[in-house]
Amino acid sequence: MCLVVVFLLSTLLPLSFSHGQDPLEWLYGRQSQAFASLQASIAGGECPEECDCPPSFPVAMYCDGRGLTAMPTVPSRVKYLYLQNNAITAVPNSALVNATNLVWLMMHHNQLTSDRIDKKVFLKLEGLQRLYLHHNNLTSIPSNLPRSLRDLRVNHNNIEKVTPVELEGMDNLTILHLHDNAVTDVGTSLKALKSLTLLDISGNELTKIPDGLPEHLHQLYLDYNSIDSVPEGFLGRFTQLQYVRMAHNQLTDKGIPSNTFNVTGLVELDLSFNKLERIPVVSTTLQHLYLQANQIKEFTLGSFCSVVDVTNFSKLLTLRLDGNEISRQDVPSESALCLRQATTLEV
Ligand SMILES: *[C@@H]1O[C@H](CO)[C@@H](O)[C@H](O)[C@H]1NC(C)=O
Ligand SMILES: *[C@@H]1O[C@H](CO)[C@@H](O)[C@H](O)[C@H]1NC(C)=O
Ligand SMILES: *[C@@H]1O[C@H](CO)[C@@H](O)[C@H](O)[C@H]1NC(C)=O
Ligand SMILES: *[C@@H]1O[C@H](CO)[C@@H](O)[C@H](O)[C@H]1NC(C)=O
Ligand SMILES: *[C@@H]1O[C@H](CO)[C@@H](O)[C@H](O)[C@H]1NC(C)=O
Repeated sequence: MCLVVVFLLSTLLPLSFSHGQDPLEWLYGRQSQAFASLQASIAGGECPEECDCPPSFPVAMYCDGRGLTAMPTVPSRVKYLYLQNNAITAVPNSALVNATNLVWLMMHHNQLTSDRIDKKVFLKLEGLQRLYLHHNNLTSIPSNLPRSLRDLRVNHNNIEKVTPVELEGMDNLTILHLHDNAVTDVGTSLKALKSLTLLDISGNELTKIPDGLPEHLHQLYLDYNSIDSVPEGFLGRFTQLQYVRMAHNQLTDKGIPSNTFNVTGLVELDLSFNKLERIPVVSTTLQHLYLQANQIKEFTLGSFCSVVDVTNFSKLLTLRLDGNEISRQDVPSESALCLRQATTLEV
């Protein structure tokens, strides 16, 4: 009985509710969206035909996944713009000329090429915080990006080079996704990014760790490159670094000076799928160590503990050593004392 009444109400309500928030919006899906565009235009803020502008959230405009090949015109009230999963090829100046209030611009999974993004198109977006351009056909980071950005995602493009001028003055940038491009070097272009905490530059063509990385990184992801060494004292420069991932590189023992990874603060270290023959010395404070699929021939307990007693032991919880040249028998029984907290120990 109750259900029938609700159903009846839901078919009547779109006609009777002509303004205000609709408490039964959840009941009638697509119909409410068409209704929403109508309401938005009644309220004075126009909405392009190909997009949806929910009346309950007038600062958002949804144009994602509609097969668009060109940018819609963006009204000035819009702060959150969703344009992902289309086939948009260009961003002309005219499209965003009035969109100066944008805070989020989501344009991932389109077909943008660098030469078809107008030079100054983003410059006027002075409050833009998130710009998602991943999975496009860019060959460089767009020039003239607003300095207000906090989260920039340009992964899965064809970017080969990052130049200092592209990221200059981005003092608030905290997240930079550059992974799965064709970057061979970043020079010192990232050094001045004083708020950057997460840098993902995995899946590129780096042959060495970039020289100038920003100081306040918490997460550094360098997997799937061709890096063969880590400079002496490298990790000591980053006092807040907690997660370092260098899986699928060309690291050898020779390329890793002793005590490189014996730094406190590190929580997770992933060196899996490299060419290491020895277990590097790590700090007793490290919690997760991934070394699977290397060429390690010996289990050296001293890599984890230089002293073992009541208060001196390793905090490791995860240790992966599978896919190396050692077996269970190579793990000495004293290990239990040093690695007393390990819950995952795979050999
Ligand atoms: C931008 O705003 C001005 C003034 O409201 C208006 O005349 C113009 O048509 C708008 N341009 C676009 C592309 O929306
Ligand atoms: C973008 O790249 C994809 C895949 O590489 C390709 O199929 C498409 O034609 C490219 N689009 C443009 C506009 O270059
Ligand atoms: C960076 O963030 C601060 C604090 O939120 C803000 O006051 C400042 O305007 C931002 N900088 C830029 C260039 O937007
Ligand atoms: C790691 O560093 C600590 C503190 O600097 C030191 O006491 C310890 O002996 C080092 N571990 C090894 C195995 O060298
Ligand atoms: C071992 O623990 C003692 C405290 O019980 C401490 O004084 C000493 O420095 C520790 N040794 C190492 C190598 O951490």
